[in-house]
Amino acid sequence: MQTITLNDGNKIPAVGFGVFLIPAGGPTYDAVRTALDAGYRHIDTAAAYFNEADVGRAVKDSGIPREEIFITSKLWLQDYGYEAAGKGLDTSLEKLGLDYVDLYLLHQPYGDVADAWRALEEAKAAGKTRSIGVSNMTPKIWKQFIPQFKTLPAVNQVECNPFFQQRELRELLARDDVKLEAYQPLGHGDSSLLSHPVITKLAKKYGRNAGQIILRFEVQDGLIVLPKSTNPERIAGNLDIFDFALTEAEMEELRALDTGKGHHDPEAPGVAEMLLQNYKIHD
Ligand code: A2P
Repeated sequence: MQTITLNDGNKIPAVGFGVFLIPAGGPTYDAVRTALDAGYRHIDTAAAYFNEADVGRAVKDSGIPREEIFITSKLWLQDYGYEAAGKGLDTSLEKLGLDYVDLYLLHQPYGDVADAWRALEEAKAAGKTRSIGVSNMTPKIWKQFIPQFKTLPAVNQVECNPFFQQRELRELLARDDVKLEAYQPLGHGDSSLLSHPVITKLAKKYGRNAGQIILRFEVQDGLIVLPKSTNPERIAGNLDIFDFALTEAEMEELRALDTGKGHHDPEAPGVAEMLLQNYKIHD
């Protein structure tokens, strides 16, 4: 598995298994077990996914040594502010059944972000998380918050796929060696992406499925990707992208698919309120 070195020196596997929207209980447990059996060593969950306990059980039952698996979780909005953030991480660790996570993120850039970040810096110093980062920060939001932070995030996890390549953000992050983690790297199953002629042409040439071409493109372009699937064949296939390479001309062809537009707009009015309303982690 290819790894990427973060700006704090820690290493992260380039492909992680995302569990957003996989229902808690059996479905998450089974998907994570399948992913670990298929060779994934990086799992991405969050308090607001409501499935940390199932991820933790699957990791434990896999019998794979803890230090061989990179585990990410995220702090939800209701736990922002300094004290609440510390408790939020402790709750996640308890649910996961772990002493530490490898990466802990501020899931959304609203509310008392600066004090929550201070709590994450302390949690890192205390060994409760090895790396810390943020999520859903657009270039504008990044520029608003980063000057308030003492240490830089290791990653910014955002929506990113061939139709929405986040070029401006990537340039900004690269200046500080901050890595972009792509959520919904397959466009969330968008059929106009998966059946795009450029992608189907390359799928045919390399004898791969469309998802594998997209993920190969993203990883070859320096991204950390978090594909999600509940289908065992696709779970395994999405990791099987390291034995072929796209040519530079093909990379350029894929870069040209960028429309600069995604589905989720973190700057949209009312988005923080909508998220708080829709994901109540303490109820
Ligand atoms: P399934 O669970 O049936 O595999 P994203 O990670 O961008 O959110 O995309 C997830 C969606 O893409 C899911 O609906 C998943 O469906 C589907 N998917 C996952 N891997 C592939 C693949 N290799 N090819 C096509 N669709 C995929």
